Amino acid sequence: METIFSSINLIYFSATGTTRNIVKAIARNLATRSISEYNLSNEVNDLYLNTIPADSLTIIGVPVYRGRVPLMVAEKLQKLHSDGSPTVLVSVYGNRHFDDALLELHDITIGCGFKVIAAGVFIGEHSYSTDEHPIAHKRPDKEDLNQCARFAEEIKAKITTGQTFETLDRTKLPGNDPYKEHPAIPLLSPETIVDDCILCGICAEVCPTDAITVNKEVITDKGACIWCCACVKRCPTQARVFKNELIDGFVEMLSTHYKERKEPEWFV
Ligand SMILES: Cc1cc2nc3c(=O)[nH]c(=O)nc-3n(C[C@H](O)[C@H](O)[C@H](O)COP(=O)(O)O)c2cc1C
Ligand code: SF4
Ligand code: SF4
Repeated sequence: METIFSSINLIYFSATGTTRNIVKAIARNLATRSISEYNLSNEVNDLYLNTIPADSLTIIGVPVYRGRVPLMVAEKLQKLHSDGSPTVLVSVYGNRHFDDALLELHDITIGCGFKVIAAGVFIGEHSYSTDEHPIAHKRPDKEDLNQCARFAEEIKAKITTGQTFETLDRTKLPGNDPYKEHPAIPLLSPETIVDDCILCGICAEVCPTDAITVNKEVITDKGACIWCCACVKRCPTQARVFKNELIDGFVEMLSTHYKERKEPEWFV
């Protein structure tokens, strides 16, 4: 079955790839002729300059950082404009909690002129998960992807029963109003184990804030680092490590207290 929309705009931020996998799985299940993908880690100037029209469906996916939309992602999203494009929101969290992130994502997108028709929270492997300290390790898994298909079915049902432009009731969404404050964070970033580094440059390529420069050595601008762990997860020699008292404490706490599997939820 094809939806009434000839195109889908897939807009996401995804430093370690879990949000990307989830929004793509939802889009795949919303049969349509074309999907335009915009990764907010890249230059997407065209997206900021143009108005997203009401005749295309938009899916916006963002990971949860400290119970909120990551600050730099909120700033990017606020640059979008829409003429009422029906929009599906997706927040992806690492099995602790999503707190105010979905509500905040809703409010940001409404402010840009989108019409939110559905919103969901899904679980992705925690950015700080390791084999030794697993936190939602390897998620989204097969069951999560099945849930993406179920969410897509409900969106399709809403579209095909003519409720497409019925906006989601904000009071249905969990979250504090006002949202909890962004905590102050110390100036820290992953470090490089020089003896293990082959200067391949992958860490610099995947860093969403351009915090890393690789020439004769790997230099990290700690002020630009958002602690996303993309460099740690993608380093082919495990030379990038984020290990210090603070992070070790988080990892210990998360892997001990948030072992129980959380499941996706959605609001349509
Ligand atoms: C700085 C930071 C803060 C995070 N805060 C939370 C949180 O508050 N709750 C939670 O469950 N997961 C949290 N996570 C985990 C991410 O939401 C999760 O790993 C998500 O799948 C990452 O998405 P991505 O793979 O698209 O980058 C945090 C991750 C980072 C890097
Ligand atoms: S990805 Fe790893 S090996 Fe490659 S330059 Fe960065 S730290 Fe060195
Ligand atoms: S340097 Fe910081 S912002 Fe850049 S990829 Fe690594 S953890 Fe993410």
